Amino acid sequence: MNVATVELQHDKNHNMTRALINHANPNQRGMNNDNPHRNHDPMKLRSLIESKLEPSIPAYASPLYHFIEESGVSSEGISICMPQLNLMEFSNEISGLLTPKQGCPAASIRAAHLAAKYSDEVEALFRRLTIPKEGGWDKFAFFDPLTPYTRNLIATDHETFTLLLLCWSPNKESPIHDHPCDGCWLQVLEGSVVESRYVHNAAGDKLTCTKEEEFHEGDFGYINDFIGYHKMGNASKTKPSVTLHLYCPPFQSCNIWLEPSEASQSSQCGVCMYSEYGHRIAR
Ligand SMILES: [Fe+2]
Repeated sequence: MNVATVELQHDKNHNMTRALINHANPNQRGMNNDNPHRNHDPMKLRSLIESKLEPSIPAYASPLYHFIEESGVSSEGISICMPQLNLMEFSNEISGLLTPKQGCPAASIRAAHLAAKYSDEVEALFRRLTIPKEGGWDKFAFFDPLTPYTRNLIATDHETFTLLLLCWSPNKESPIHDHPCDGCWLQVLEGSVVESRYVHNAAGDKLTCTKEEEFHEGDFGYINDFIGYHKMGNASKTKPSVTLHLYCPPFQSCNIWLEPSEASQSSQCGVCMYSEYGHRIAR
């Protein structure tokens, strides 16, 4: 079987400009329509392409179909790599996906939980977001020495999403908290963090820890209030860690619990930023 990775490239208007086929076996390069391994099942190939592509970019499907068919690669051997997104491209994609469409009252769309409805698409976009450290996320990485972790605003459209960089001091953790939004996605950019998940017990008077998981550099995570609440902490006693968080839509405050044994004793906590767009906020 011919195995290949198809890497898509696009211009600033998200039109596909190039599709590079990287063959696992260099000897497969230069195959043409006479190759005996050519895929002869157009329906299978089209359905494979459509299943791999995000609904937000259906324009890719047709040119990609012709390109792959002409390349002679078998559909079983294809994996499709979507183009990476920089910060501006990501912001535009998320806003476009989650902004209520014309003719739909915003209130009813919010009630339908757009981010929850499109959670797979949001996650796919989040995974394509690429911010290098140097000259990228490092300019947002402020550590407040007075707090266990520091919230730094990277981007928001004030309607559909907020993207934060959280900087964790060594051996520090957040309180247990909820997420009054449709979903919170995270990626570890540096170091490692531990997530402890909680749900109400049967009586509803306590929070029970159901899971503890360590996330390392490059790992992704997701939570919403239907899954449960969580606390996060730096897994290292000596090194700082940095995580990227996407919240859809933005929220101004959340509930925190200081004692899991007292589920009724939650308090509201405002979401305060230490910096915005790479600049310290004057206090
Ligand atoms: Fe959280």
